[in-house]
Amino acid sequence: MEDNRYQLLDGKAVSAQMKKEMAEEVAQIKAAGGKIPHLAAVLVGHDGGSETYVASKVKTCEEIGFKSTLIRYEDDVTEEELLRKVDELNNDADIDGFIVQLPLPKHISEQKIIEAIDYRKDVDGFHPINVGRMSIGLPCFVSATPAGILELLKRYEIETSGKHCVVLGRSNIVGKPMATLMMQKAYPGNCTVTVCHSRSKNLKEMCLSADIIIVALGVPEFLKGDMVKEGAVIVDVGTTRMPSSVTKSGYKLTGDVKFDEVAPKCSYITPVPGGVGPMTIISLMRNTLLAGKKAIYK
Ligand code: GUN
Repeated sequence: MEDNRYQLLDGKAVSAQMKKEMAEEVAQIKAAGGKIPHLAAVLVGHDGGSETYVASKVKTCEEIGFKSTLIRYEDDVTEEELLRKVDELNNDADIDGFIVQLPLPKHISEQKIIEAIDYRKDVDGFHPINVGRMSIGLPCFVSATPAGILELLKRYEIETSGKHCVVLGRSNIVGKPMATLMMQKAYPGNCTVTVCHSRSKNLKEMCLSADIIIVALGVPEFLKGDMVKEGAVIVDVGTTRMPSSVTKSGYKLTGDVKFDEVAPKCSYITPVPGGVGPMTIISLMRNTLLAGKKAIYK
């Protein structure tokens, strides 16, 4: 008999618990007269997704008790002007960490902006120093989505040692760091990792041999039921905004996994929404707390 009882990896519930833990810690810092962690976010233009993410980051800061500052620019801001703001934030002693929301308009080099950020304030973990330190297992800011996924696996005590983990996608923000972390000599980690991407020829075969699949392609409902082994653990990073006449916002978030087909075959699976998304935001908050406490860099 097929056992089709799967368990949801509930990012909404786990992130709520983490939020509570952090709010308590901030209250203690406040009571002891310590410095309240302060996050700044730079938002360029009016991309719907970016607006939503940044609003959610600012709101979560307030709920935890952090200070937050939102800095907005129109699409036509120059690279020079943005670099000046980065420099100002680098030198502002009250700002513990800051992020520049991506994507940026085409006339601005994202890489140049990322490299201009002081790595000690780079709570997104995108600066080459943080990426490099992560890859050799040194203390650093780990980017929020991979960090959130690790925390979710940890809180559900998912076994990872010796497992075959397939990462679909090779982006700098998710795929690459995720693969690095899953092969690290640590828990969660110690996996045999395969990274598949748009040019991979044997992607289905790889997925069928996977114990854990982390899908970060940005292709709605890419992973189908016939690509998944019985009992696999599935983590869906996809959040494509699909037009919808049913929801108030006019769109519906759609994951990279065909949930109805895949879920019955799984042991654990993240829902969309309510899986990786809330874990990403809360992980940024945790990095902000670490930055405020100077826990990683002095
Ligand atoms: N765009 C998509 N994800 C992210 C993120 O984690 N941080 C920033 N700054 N931009 C993003």
